[in-house]
Amino acid sequence: MNYLKNIINLLNQFFDNTIFIILASKKSDLSIFEIIKYVSYFIFNFTFNLFRNLNYKEEKDKFRISSKSLKFSKDWFTNNIPIWISIFKRNIKKKNIKILEIGSFEGMSAVFFLEYFNSSKIDCVETFQGSDEHSETDFNLIKKNFNYNLYKFKERFDVHEISSDNFFNEKKIDEIYDIIYIDGSHESDQVTKDAQNSFKYLKSKGIIIFDDFLRKYYNEIQKNPFFAIVKFIKNNNKNIKILYVGYQLILQKK
Ligand SMILES: C[S@@+](CC[C@H](N)C(=O)[O-])C[C@H]1O[C@@H](n2cnc3c(N)ncnc32)[C@H](O)[C@@H]1O
Repeated sequence: MNYLKNIINLLNQFFDNTIFIILASKKSDLSIFEIIKYVSYFIFNFTFNLFRNLNYKEEKDKFRISSKSLKFSKDWFTNNIPIWISIFKRNIKKKNIKILEIGSFEGMSAVFFLEYFNSSKIDCVETFQGSDEHSETDFNLIKKNFNYNLYKFKERFDVHEISSDNFFNEKKIDEIYDIIYIDGSHESDQVTKDAQNSFKYLKSKGIIIFDDFLRKYYNEIQKNPFFAIVKFIKNNNKNIKILYVGYQLILQKK
């Protein structure tokens, strides 16, 4: 019975997201070729994810178990683990890399980065003020939890308690990253700024992971991340290779 429920759930997700991609692409003025490109990437990755989930289930379960000793009130992250590992294995060969994360919350994705890339360094940019969807959240507690969770990595992370705009304004151009995770504000104007700024600080062959590519939080499609991300890719098409399209979108700088 559970098996049947899972299949129905999966099919629902599949059709729901495919329809969203088509409708949102039209609202974003994408050509028919671009729409076909995004739908094909999505279908390919959706199918391939079944294998990724089997291959890397153990790593996901291990992280979930080990993170029980830390202080997390939400898990928006661990379902990405099989996809991330599969992309990292093929595209990021070193462990001593430099990572930037915009939006860290209690640090779950940052802990994963620091454990997986065990000699990496990460800059976490986090206002500890939340966005539209966090009106009920006590950010004093979130900050306490972040500091507790990251404590054992204190030599390898820096936290910047400012907005991503201010972080980039203060930044020197010669500091560049191998991976940038954009998971801060999910309002399209801010996602556009974060994407443009991040791209300047990304190494060639480095990757950007956008969270919530298929998120439908705002009724007006143009306010969601999809709109910002596809426009950004269109404007930088020659310098970008798309690596993954699903609930997240992952790209590589050529
Ligand atoms: C979804 S949470 C991040 C989750 C985290 N990456 C994880 O996987 O555990 C989004 C976070 O982004 C932060 N945020 C929103 N807008 C921001 C901005 N412009 N600059 C920096 N942080 C921002 C919020 O305070 C919130 O904690």
